[in-house]
Amino acid sequence: MTKIFTISNNTIEMEKIKEAAQIILNNGIVAFPTETVYGLGANGLEEDAIKKIFIAKGRPSDNPLILHISSLDMLNMLVDEIPHKAGLLTEKFWPGPLTLVFKKSKLVPNCITAGLDTVAIRMPSNPIALSLIRETNVPIAAPSANISGRPSTTKAEHVIEDLYGKVEAIIVSDDSTIGLESTVLDVTEDIPILLRPGKITVEQLERIVGQVQVDQGIYHQSEVGKVKSPGMKYKHYAPKAPVKIFKGNIEQVIQKINTLSKDYQRQGKIVGVLATDESKDRYKADKIISMGERLKPKSIMAKLFDCLREFDKHHVDIILSEGFSDKGIELAISNRLNKAAGFNITIVGPNVTTSNLLS
Ligand code: TXA
Ligand code: MG
Repeated sequence: MTKIFTISNNTIEMEKIKEAAQIILNNGIVAFPTETVYGLGANGLEEDAIKKIFIAKGRPSDNPLILHISSLDMLNMLVDEIPHKAGLLTEKFWPGPLTLVFKKSKLVPNCITAGLDTVAIRMPSNPIALSLIRETNVPIAAPSANISGRPSTTKAEHVIEDLYGKVEAIIVSDDSTIGLESTVLDVTEDIPILLRPGKITVEQLERIVGQVQVDQGIYHQSEVGKVKSPGMKYKHYAPKAPVKIFKGNIEQVIQKINTLSKDYQRQGKIVGVLATDESKDRYKADKIISMGERLKPKSIMAKLFDCLREFDKHHVDIILSEGFSDKGIELAISNRLNKAAGFNITIVGPNVTTSNLLS
């Protein structure tokens, strides 16, 4: 039986939070809201509890988890040292959507880090998440609250769809405001390395700590065995139908998608198109979903995973999607979409230059 607690961000009901905290302290697992995506939480110091997360999600055990904390005292206990640059970043961006990878202390169980000597830590800003961690007074291990391989959950209904019956409790709350998972930055090297792009961009990080390296696995399909962040090698964010991405001059993208849509329909397939507000009326397909205004990438971020899940309800056989640039905040959107598509990306147009790329 999964217990449901309904709590809104505006009225933190401490009785319910205390009950959820108690479930976590009894080694149960509880899905809870964060500002990025919903998380599936367990006591991050208890192997037995942590193992339940991997089972409920069907997550490979070599993919390490993020520990969520509510104070810098907790950070001190979990890491070997806090490099100067990391200190600057926590001051600027915590609580918030930034995960930092540190050298771990002995306190961190091996099943959190999948045997690595580093640990990923973040202090979320969502008030329910923060009070839940404070109430338990332990770091909460929490991957995104979705079945492994599926799009992360940004609405309580997604969490119920994926995890009801598999977890002790779900905190049903407001939609995630950011909608994509946190930026992950490895601060164990002199020059920090971006392992996963998120709302906090490379440019924002560089303003605080100078040069940041970007792991190539963010742009390309990573080769198994060569990844810095184990999570990058698995299938991710995938709706039930395959996704194909088209980038280039917008007019040619529209033309290409419409031609393919017709071809697929002739083969008897149900075609979905993932578009933006500016272009959505120009497509011909069975189901056209707009991610929002291209000029407002933050609103696209907030909707992307919900749009991908929406196609499942319409039983489409194929999803043809517009692409995004790898610049600024669009890098996070482009990275998640590319992964959803297994990097099936077609550049259209004979003379594609940077200036006429969709961006
Ligand atoms: O926004 C978020 O970060 C959400 C919410 C719930 O906080 N959590 C989340 O967790 O996205 P998860 O488990 O879905 O993604 C964690 C990512 C994975 O790509 C994993 O490989 C990476 O962080 N990671 C964890 N520990 C690591 C480590 N020690 N070194 C490198 N990468 C690590
Ligand atoms: Mg995840």
